[in-house]
Amino acid sequence: MTTYKLAVIGGTGPQGKGLAYRFATAGHTVIIGSRHTERAQVTAEEITVRLDGDAVHVSGADNATAADAADIVLLAVPFDGHAALVESLRAQLAAKVMISCVNPLGFDKRGPHGLDVADGSAAEEAQRLVPDAQLVGAFHHLSAVNLWNEAAELEHEDVLVCGDNTEAKAVAIDLARAICGRDGIDVGPLRLARQLEPLTAVLISVNKRYGVRSGLRLSGLDKH
Ligand SMILES: NC(=O)c1ccc[n+]([C@@H]2O[C@H](COP(=O)([O-])OP(=O)(O)OC[C@H]3O[C@@H](n4cnc5c(N)ncnc54)[C@H](OP(=O)(O)O)[C@@H]3O)[C@@H](O)[C@H]2O)c1
Repeated sequence: MTTYKLAVIGGTGPQGKGLAYRFATAGHTVIIGSRHTERAQVTAEEITVRLDGDAVHVSGADNATAADAADIVLLAVPFDGHAALVESLRAQLAAKVMISCVNPLGFDKRGPHGLDVADGSAAEEAQRLVPDAQLVGAFHHLSAVNLWNEAAELEHEDVLVCGDNTEAKAVAIDLARAICGRDGIDVGPLRLARQLEPLTAVLISVNKRYGVRSGLRLSGLDKH
């Protein structure tokens, strides 16, 4: 198994922490990033304790230090503030594989909905801001609660991966193994993040209506 050195920017939030926990469990080295070093260290410690000390490869740092130290950078921050954050890390992100699970969503009286994004999607916004990074969209549809729940088996879910760089996509496809036990699915180019990101609004709406934590599974790929 290939192991990666990953920075999780916004790793103190539920989604980043949940993904970091799953990646660390699978043996990847994880650096939790935060705007505040101490917050990152607290989350890193929380994951280490959860893994009973087995996860000696989890640490915490400020976002820039984390991104600089890693080979792969996962963006797990809210869309509000996303552009400013990515811009501030441009030097550290240059030429790296960047994976975005950012979902630009709005919530009003009628429920969750996808926001109009000038660049088309959050992933494309990040790509415009760091043109020499290899942007991949993935992990948009996994519930943070499930990721952090030790008992939650996520084998029934698929990780849908989009991107324009085949090697970078291969990394996210491989990382999906840490969560679902099998490769993520290559759905196509980065512009499909315009469909993947707002699709999360559908899942959240279903969750509210049925009182569940829904996930995605594509059919028809069994014989692939
Ligand atoms: N929650 C879910 O179930 C879920 C599922 C799928 C995808 N996602 C996506 O994953 C991303 C993270 O979700 P989340 O629920 O973990 O979000 P969150 O808790 O709102 O934010 C995650 C972290 O981002 C940092 N942050 C917050 N505002 C920021 C700003 N303006 N600039 C820079 N950093 C900021 C904070 O870390 P510090 O204060 O430590 O810097 C925070 O702990 C979102 O884009 C979301 O759409 C979430």
